[in-house]
Amino acid sequence: MRTHNCGELNINNLNETVTLCGWVQKVRNKGFMIWLDLRDQHGITQILFDHERTSKKIFDKLNTINREYVLQINGIVIERISKNNQINTGEIEILAQKINILNSSLTPPFTVENKTDGGEELRMKYRFLDIRREEISKNIQLRSKINFEIRKFFNKNGFLDIETPYLIKSTPEGARDFIVPSRINKGEFYALPQSPQTFKQLLVIGGIDKYFQIVKCFRDEDLRSDRQPEFTQIDCEMSFVDQKDVMNIFEGFIKELFFRVKNIKLNDFPILSYEDAMKKYGSDKPDIRFDMQIHNLNGVLKNNKIEIFENNDSNLCICIKEGAKLSRNQIDDLNNWVKNSEIKGKGFMWIKYNHDGTIKSSISKLIDNLKANEILKVCKGNFGDLIILVSGNNKTPFIQLGSLRIEIAKRLDLIKTKEFCPLWINDFPLFELDENTKKISSMHHPFTSPKVEDIELLDSTPENVYANSYDLVINGVEIGGGSIRIHDSKIQKKIFEILGFSKKDYLNQFGFLIEALEYGAPPHGGIAFGLDRLVALMANKQAIRDFIAFPKNNSGKDIMIESPNKISDDQLNELNLSINNE
Ligand code: AMO
Repeated sequence: MRTHNCGELNINNLNETVTLCGWVQKVRNKGFMIWLDLRDQHGITQILFDHERTSKKIFDKLNTINREYVLQINGIVIERISKNNQINTGEIEILAQKINILNSSLTPPFTVENKTDGGEELRMKYRFLDIRREEISKNIQLRSKINFEIRKFFNKNGFLDIETPYLIKSTPEGARDFIVPSRINKGEFYALPQSPQTFKQLLVIGGIDKYFQIVKCFRDEDLRSDRQPEFTQIDCEMSFVDQKDVMNIFEGFIKELFFRVKNIKLNDFPILSYEDAMKKYGSDKPDIRFDMQIHNLNGVLKNNKIEIFENNDSNLCICIKEGAKLSRNQIDDLNNWVKNSEIKGKGFMWIKYNHDGTIKSSISKLIDNLKANEILKVCKGNFGDLIILVSGNNKTPFIQLGSLRIEIAKRLDLIKTKEFCPLWINDFPLFELDENTKKISSMHHPFTSPKVEDIELLDSTPENVYANSYDLVINGVEIGGGSIRIHDSKIQKKIFEILGFSKKDYLNQFGFLIEALEYGAPPHGGIAFGLDRLVALMANKQAIRDFIAFPKNNSGKDIMIESPNKISDDQLNELNLSINNE
C-alpha cells in the first residue's frame, strides 16, 4: 500500500513519486494552498496541495477530511520553501497527486500531538490514541529495542529462556497476591506469581545451568509512580555461582545494554554495603549523581551538656555547597516540607556560613561560632555553605536527612540529569523487624542465603545475621535485586522457623521446595530487574506508566477496558463464590 513510511523521506528523494499511508495530524488551509501533516509510527511528512498543481477533485475530497482520518497519498517529493530542522523529513514535502481515504475518524477527544490538551485519565481511556502520539510511541519502540538487546545478551551468554506458570499458589514475598478462583477445584484458588522465584530455583535444581525470562509479575500493593500491579521482570538464575559471579555477569549485562541502546559507556559500578549506604546517604537506594553525604557530628556535639544532642543517639548533618545564598523563606519552606511531607520529621536546625565570615544559625543559643566552625570542618565545608542538622534515634534521622538531601538537590538543580550512576548495595541484614507488630520478616525473601560466617548466629541473634544479597541501584531507583539462595534444606527450614512458620505451615506452603533441596540442589543464585523501571530510567524518566502499552491508573484500574469489573451471577455460581453486596 505504501512505498515509504512517514519518517524516512529527505532531500535525497527529490522528484521521486512516492505513496505514503498515515493519519492526519493537522491541516492548515491558506485557501489557495493546503498543508497536511501525515503521521505514522515513524514520523510526520508534510503533504502539499495547491490550486495550480492539484486537481479540483482532490480539493473536493480534502474538504471532507478531518483530524485522524486515515489516508493513502501518492505524490512527488519536492523541496520545502520553509524548512523544519526539528524533524527528519523537514526539508521536503509531498506534492499530492492522488488521495485515497482509507478510513474516517471521529473527532479525537484530545489532540494527538506531543503537546496534547488531554489529561491523564482521558488519555488512559483512549490509550490507542495516546499510543499514536510520538512521545508514547517512542517509549514503546525503546522498550522493544531494549527487549531485543536483552534477549541477544542472554542468548549469547548461554541462558535458556524458560516460561514458568502464571497460575500458581500463594508465596509470601511482601505484597498481597492476586487470587484466581478455580472452577474445577471448587473452593480452591490459584495465585498469580509475585515473581517466579521458587520456579527458577526448581529449574536450577532440575539441572538448568542458566535461566532467564522476561516475565509478568503481579503484586497487589499500593501504587506509586514506579509501581504497577502487573509489571515485568528480567528474571535470572544461575547454578554454581557466588555473589561476585552474579554481580560480574549482570554488571556486564547492564553495561552492554546501555552501550547498545544509548551508546553510553558506564564506569565500573561501586559497591556499598547497606550500612554504609544508610550512614552516608540515609537510603538503601542512594542517588549518587550528586555528593552531599551525611556527616556524624557526635564527636563535636556530644559532651557539651546540650540536652538535645545528649539525648539523641545521632546528631547528623548535610552540608549544602554555596547554600548560604538560600533566603530565610527558602529555608523555612524546606523545614515545612520536612514536617509536612511523607517523611513527617520534626524539622531541622541550620547554620549559615556567609561569605563575609559571619555565621547565622537557628541554634545560636546552643552553640557558639567556635563550635559552628568545628562543625564546618567535619563536613569539609567552606564559608558560603549551609549546614542542616537533624538529631534523633535509630534510623529516623538518617532517613530524614536522606530524603531532605534529594529534595534539596531537586530544588537547587544539583542533579546531573543526563548522567547514569549505577551502584551495587550489598550486605543487607537478613531480617527486619516491624516496629509496630514486632514481627520479624525477610528483608529480601525467605530463600535468601545468610552469609556463611553468620549461620551460627541464626539460633542466638538472628537480627545480627547478614544476607548474601545485592541490589542494583541507578540514579536513586532500585532497578534490580537478588541473592545467593539457600541450597541446604536444613537452613531453609530454620529460616522458616525464625520467620514464625510452624512446621505444618512451611511444609504446607513450601514442602515442594524443601523436598527439592533434598535431592542434590546445586549452590545457586540470581537476580531480577524491573524492566519497566529500567526502560523509564533509560529514557531519563521516573514514572513507568508511559513505558507500558496498557498500564493501570492509580487505583489499579484499566479505564479503557473497564477492569476490574463485576462478573455475572452465573459465573459466580460456577466458581462457587458469592459476593456480599452490603
Ligand atoms: P524484587 O521484589 O526486589 O525481587 O523485585 C525485583 C525488581 O522488580 C522491580 N519491581 C517493580 N517494578 C514495578 N512495579 C512493581 N510493583 C515492582 N515491584 C518490584 C524492581 C525490583 O528491584 N524474586 C526476587 C528477585 C531475586 O531474588 O532474584 C524479586 O522479585 O525494580
